[in-house]
Amino acid sequence: MSEKLELDQVGNTPMHRVGSIKLNGNTVFAKCEFMNPTGSHKDRTFLYMVNKLESEGKIRPGMTLVDCSTGNGGAALAWVGKKKGYDVKIFMPEGMTDERKAQIYEYGAELFETEKSLFLNGSVQAAHDFVRGKDPREIYFLDQGSNLLNKAAWLECGNEIVRYLESQDIIPDYFVCSIGTGGTFSGISEVLKSRFPNISTVGIEVDKSAPLYAKKNNLEFTHAPHNMMGLGAGALSSNTNELVVDDVVTVNGERSWNRMKQFIVEEKLGIGPTCGANLLVCEELCRMLQDKIVITLFFDSSWKYKSRWSGIYPEYFGG
Ligand SMILES: Cc1ncc(COP(=O)(O)O)c(C=O)c1O
Repeated sequence: MSEKLELDQVGNTPMHRVGSIKLNGNTVFAKCEFMNPTGSHKDRTFLYMVNKLESEGKIRPGMTLVDCSTGNGGAALAWVGKKKGYDVKIFMPEGMTDERKAQIYEYGAELFETEKSLFLNGSVQAAHDFVRGKDPREIYFLDQGSNLLNKAAWLECGNEIVRYLESQDIIPDYFVCSIGTGGTFSGISEVLKSRFPNISTVGIEVDKSAPLYAKKNNLEFTHAPHNMMGLGAGALSSNTNELVVDDVVTVNGERSWNRMKQFIVEEKLGIGPTCGANLLVCEELCRMLQDKIVITLFFDSSWKYKSRWSGIYPEYFGG
């Protein structure tokens, strides 16, 4: 497959008007990132990072690329790497969904599962250990957690949202989006805030692991196991630009899973649990507002969770 075709397949996702949130004349639009080729928003992150690192001369086909992920990023890098001729190694906490692991294998990458007690921090440590002492001309750790190319990848998505809104003569009032590394939230928020200075942003963290919420509220940060994979990694990433987070709220995992399932029945779009979190917060906001425009994002696809459809990850809840 040519590089041109790869680029064409990633991004330019549709905006979905959320028909099931009809409160006080408010309107919610969701950017459908789950429609990217591997089923998640991380295709954008990794295609951008790999292209940029190539153009900077830091990597070239034939090298080994390494990163850590609970699954979406791993599948995206495995896919981009396969298309472009890289060997890919993914470090992932044990107990993630079978579908995510299968995707990584199918795209020809090698998967290293790390011990559950340290969750994603253990995967990051293992990836550092893996590359240490190896020839940097042969192996490169992309490190989506702390590499700011992650956030930069999301500026173009922000531009797409602006172009859509302008084409419809819409001025948005709120941007609501969950934060994992915060690359998605921050890149888009930077663009929306520069184009629409009056927009307010609401970041979302999972209640069991909410470092930004703790920081903003002068609370001690603690990480506990949860079922919102992609959020709550156990540390605040440098890809979260705190200057563009006007408010941060927390969500409950079980309620987010239920909201996702309700949405799938109502609107027949197969989205994942962190999209349920975004919908929950949009809905809470719309209860308090009148005639406002709220923008949110659908990260990934429901099929990635079929093997954990109960919302229970036994490895993380002692089941
Ligand atoms: C399902 C899901 N939702 C949300 C996120 C958060 O995205 P970001 O890391 O850009 O904050 C991730 C990140 O891995 C994810 O996999």
